Amino acid sequence: MRRPIIAGNWKMNMAAAQEAVALVTQLRASVNGVPVDVVVCPPFPWLASVAQSLSNSSIALGAQDLFWEPQGAFTGEVSPTMLAGVGCRYVIVGHSERRQLFGETDANVNKKLQAALRYGLTPIVCVGETLAQRERNETAAVVREQVRDGLASLSEQDLGKIVLAYEPVWAIGTGRTATPEQAQEVHALIRRLVQERWGGAAAQGIRVQYGGSVTAANALELLRQPDVDGALVGGASLKADAFAAIIQAAAQAKGVTA
Ligand code: PGA
Repeated sequence: MRRPIIAGNWKMNMAAAQEAVALVTQLRASVNGVPVDVVVCPPFPWLASVAQSLSNSSIALGAQDLFWEPQGAFTGEVSPTMLAGVGCRYVIVGHSERRQLFGETDANVNKKLQAALRYGLTPIVCVGETLAQRERNETAAVVREQVRDGLASLSEQDLGKIVLAYEPVWAIGTGRTATPEQAQEVHALIRRLVQERWGGAAAQGIRVQYGGSVTAANALELLRQPDVDGALVGGASLKADAFAAIIQAAAQAKGVTA
């Protein structure tokens, strides 16, 4: 039984620390005791304030990115040790916005996730095809390559410490979500790829989130799919009510109770 995991990727939203704190304060109250792993990923400047608001809460803190070196002359970058030091337990790696807008490659993704693991952070590693790739029937090939190269040289033990997220690029922020069947098809493929490379136990254990226009209205159907173990939520994670409803949907879809 894989414990569902719902993560909120706030992206470059929440203009003030007070807004961030208000959101998690409301969230804390509404998800208390829900048997789902809940993660919020605020922008870097609000991590410390949000960490403080989350103390003694089951909600975990995550970052949206990291650099792979622990320290040094890397202007503008944030290290895994800094993230761990501010209270992060998770970090998103290889989000499609990083890949598309900032030129991040599978090789970068691999370095980042290895660094996250080295410093005790759980990487949430994103894969997914663009619209053009889907239309050319390249989805499986693209995801296969991202898994192969992004997760290169990971041991079975390390594989057990990561979370994957399937995020079709065409569904992110567009309101055009994948159908439950489309999501399930790629999630099952990802699990097969993990099985081929790391074996059956790893494949059964790994959690694969779906991301891309997840809302309170469509979460239940997506999460009912057998290989969809959670969600990586952008827009709908900025409203406590909507995000809490997605978390409740995960508990309901997977039949888990407190
Ligand atoms: P969205 O973003 O829910 O706003 O589509 C998802 C993501 O980019 O992780």
